[in-house]
Amino acid sequence: MSPADADAFPAPRYAVFGQPVSHSLSPAIHAAFARQQAIALRYEAIEAAPEAFADALARFAEGGGRGANVTLPLKQAAVDLCATLGDSARRAGAVNTLVRDGAGWRGENTDGRGLVRDLTERAGLDLRARRTLLIGAGGAARGVAPALLDAGIGDLYIVNRTGARADALADALGEPGRVHSRYLDDIGALGEFELIVHATSAGRGAPPPALPRALLAPRAAVVDLNYGEAAVPFLAWARASGAHDAIDGLGMLVEQAAESFALWHGVRPETDTVYAELRARQNLLVTAD
Ligand code: ATR
Repeated sequence: MSPADADAFPAPRYAVFGQPVSHSLSPAIHAAFARQQAIALRYEAIEAAPEAFADALARFAEGGGRGANVTLPLKQAAVDLCATLGDSARRAGAVNTLVRDGAGWRGENTDGRGLVRDLTERAGLDLRARRTLLIGAGGAARGVAPALLDAGIGDLYIVNRTGARADALADALGEPGRVHSRYLDDIGALGEFELIVHATSAGRGAPPPALPRALLAPRAAVVDLNYGEAAVPFLAWARASGAHDAIDGLGMLVEQAAESFALWHGVRPETDTVYAELRARQNLLVTAD
């Protein structure tokens, strides 16, 4: 295609919205998937404060935007900007993927499927019947809880600094016999867990909540939805406490991106190569400090 043709037929636009977003790996991941699948697209990172998100998204749509990812802190706000919600977003009450559908946006959430795929296929874990602790009840926790239940975990205990948010998430999941909310302060009395998922944003700023090592059952898997530096403190606690598996959110990031890519382009890219490249880069960054 000549440069003139490229101007006349610009590649379809995609983006990730968030704040901060400049560090996002999503542009690199989607560019790699697009090269692999020989699909022409532009994928950019757009910084948007919560109060500016609606306008920024409207401008993006006017400029030909066909799809977007939504990251912190906009995942719950995105729900209100959608004309329709897919089942995954409705159950999560949070959107990480926007698909242009006629004149409006359809909201989807691929975080949970991405996490489950990373844990079962990349890490080889059998999640079925695992007694599970979910720490946090914000957008990240909401995104993954429904898919964990669908994957067949056992009872799910949700703890959060603000107990009312844990209660609200447990209620929204609609399985009172299986999903329980508890106060973070009572965590020592909850027994052992075979799967622990850290979904607070604490690792990105303040230190993560202090937790007793007695929370870990033998062969427990501990997952931090963060990756890079933000995942280091919690996973260090997990390893020191004897976790059998200590897994950060990098694989989930790649897998949720692949699910979004499939929604937009109708084909699921191969993820292992992109994951391996990012893992090598992350290891360099984390060990360089
Ligand atoms: P995200 O989309 O990353 O989930 P969020 O919706 O703002 O962001 O939610 C942040 C989560 O991290 C919440 O569960 C929050 O607890 P509160 O609901 O009590 O605010 C939790 N969180 C943030 N900082 C924390 C800290 N220092 N200790 C414990 N929990 C923390």
